[in-house]
Amino acid sequence: MQNQKALKQKIENISNVFEINKVINLKTNKKYIQKYYKINKIPYSLFHTKTDLMYMGVSRDGIYKEDDLLEAARTVEKYIKKLNGTAVLELATGRGASSFHIAQKFPKVKFYGVDISKGQLDFAYKKAKKINNYYPNFGDYHDLSQFENETFDIVFVIEALCYSINKYQVLTEVSRVLKKDGIFIIFDGYLNKNPKQLTSDEKIATQLAEKGMAMDKFETYESFKEKIKKTNFNIDFEENISQFTIPTMKRFEKKATLFFKHPHVAKIISKFLPKAFIYNTISGYLSCTLMQMNTYHYMITILKKE
Ligand SMILES: C[S@@+](CC[C@H](N)C(=O)[O-])C[C@H]1O[C@@H](n2cnc3c(N)ncnc32)[C@H](O)[C@@H]1O
Repeated sequence: MQNQKALKQKIENISNVFEINKVINLKTNKKYIQKYYKINKIPYSLFHTKTDLMYMGVSRDGIYKEDDLLEAARTVEKYIKKLNGTAVLELATGRGASSFHIAQKFPKVKFYGVDISKGQLDFAYKKAKKINNYYPNFGDYHDLSQFENETFDIVFVIEALCYSINKYQVLTEVSRVLKKDGIFIIFDGYLNKNPKQLTSDEKIATQLAEKGMAMDKFETYESFKEKIKKTNFNIDFEENISQFTIPTMKRFEKKATLFFKHPHVAKIISKFLPKAFIYNTISGYLSCTLMQMNTYHYMITILKKE
């Protein structure tokens, strides 16, 4: 109830700065995603972390620490050891911080990465120059044709599969490039409610939060699992880590709250800054409440190719 009230108030505060319909009607196709990541090249470093680990920390003790941003990397490391892996692919490798971190620890393992954002990849290319076993490249994760069948022991993706509106195709491609018994590790957010059962405020807030991150919309976890069933993957492990992402989200919420607290100033600032940057404030403002309301969930999903 308290969260519902907070959400209503937040939507009202957002409407004092932005035209809600304009945000909701934004077309977030591949071109816009690329523009979004180009524009946010510097802001992401300024407002998130300088370590280039551009995603949620998993704070199991409820307190945010930089080290919490390495949970996905640690999961990949565990599977490299378990499988005695020699080749790993990161989908949406972005700035390459995770692959670079793991690659330094496993110099004999080859790490490949694809991403559609040249802005993000520039950071990854710089890291790749420092070591001999990380190979980031331009590429869309819906089409992994640059890789042969059964090349990798492990494929992983952190907070990026949510951008896909055809996850079945990604699953099929990943299955093709994985060796038998290979592992697909996914860290990502999902809608946790039937879209038809969202309250009108939840409906507006989810659309706003998603467009703010250049997304079309979060798919429900159930719908994603239906797609998994149609492939040759089995779920090896899954964990709902929503509550552990709250400390990272609180950090974004704090900054965004400051922005929306002064609507006149916020409106002036917004006039001069690109929408792909300034709409981030909306996602930062709403995501934490939506996670606390269980409207969104954050899941670790580990699939095994049979
Ligand atoms: C929130 S960031 C995730 C961070 C990234 N995993 C990292 O470590 O920096 C989302 C990333 O997904 C990438 N992305 C979105 N759609 C993609 C696609 N179809 N194929 C490959 N990368 C994609 C974006 O360019 C962006 O770098």
